[in-house]
Amino acid sequence: MPPRKPKLKAQLGKLRARHGTKPAAPTAKAPEGEKGPSQAATKGADAATTEKKPKRIFIPFTTEDTILLVGEGNFSFSLGLASVLGTGENIVATAYDSEEVVKQKYPDAEGIIHDLVESFNATVMYDVDATALDKAALLKGRTFSKIVFNFPHVGLGIKDQDRNIRANQALILKFLQSSMALSTLKTEIVLTTKTGGPYDLWDVKRLAKSAGLVSKMSFPFHPDPYPGCEHRRTLGHEDGVSADANAEIKNAKTFVLTTASDELMEKITGIKASKRKNRGSGVATTAAPASKKTRKSEEKDDD
Ligand SMILES: C[S@@+](CC[C@H](N)C(=O)[O-])C[C@H]1O[C@@H](n2cnc3c(N)ncnc32)[C@H](O)[C@@H]1O
Repeated sequence: MPPRKPKLKAQLGKLRARHGTKPAAPTAKAPEGEKGPSQAATKGADAATTEKKPKRIFIPFTTEDTILLVGEGNFSFSLGLASVLGTGENIVATAYDSEEVVKQKYPDAEGIIHDLVESFNATVMYDVDATALDKAALLKGRTFSKIVFNFPHVGLGIKDQDRNIRANQALILKFLQSSMALSTLKTEIVLTTKTGGPYDLWDVKRLAKSAGLVSKMSFPFHPDPYPGCEHRRTLGHEDGVSADANAEIKNAKTFVLTTASDELMEKITGIKASKRKNRGSGVATTAAPASKKTRKSEEKDDD
């Protein structure tokens, strides 16, 4: 059967009716460091109440991307993303749990997954371990331009804070390492975590460095642009009993991580260009000034 073309308007209407969410106007403009999108988002929050201006929140995805999502909860981020892009054809959304467990933990997942697959032609997979992506048979031989893990958490209820931090760090590090099997040099890992408290101690940038990656940029995460997106805890969700899903992720932050070798290529290209320029003007040069300059601009792009 040929894939059904999504009736986007109708789907968005359905999503809004179901979740009472209004999608934001996505912006493809990359944030200039931490301040850019934060200011845009604040403006957006005002706009939501006054209905004057559409929100302008950075969405790090385009229709050109091939996107793998791991560690989905109720799959509402995947559905929101598919509706923003107008298609889920390039989306593979996965959960760590089995289909049965996903539906048990998140009662709304069944309807969401139905929409994701039937209306947007996305692919949904279960039992995908983000720390062993190299071993995922159904993903073998594939590469993605974006690999997304929103709010990774082992969810083991570890009371000891140090142990809890170490367990989550191990999850993230192994995820970053194993995602290399499905990456090209241009692949970006889009990783979102809460901030404050123990989350800052996870030290995502250091973990990225250990996996041979660098943080290309970071910016505040907002669920609003993704219609119907509702954060879920690892343990499950019960309406009216569980904590308000998106209130829990108010101060979340997205890191866009990329291969250091990509970055290195940029530096090398920059050094070569500066050497060529200086050869023309007869000025002797060394690699040091060029790499210093690159480091400075990285600092500006990052937080
Ligand atoms: C806090 S929940 C976030 C769920 C969802 N991403 C969201 O934002 O609503 C953490 C998620 O990490 C997943 N997770 C934990 N260990 C994992 C692993 N090894 N591989 C894939 N996902 C894992 C859990 O199953 C859970 O869905």
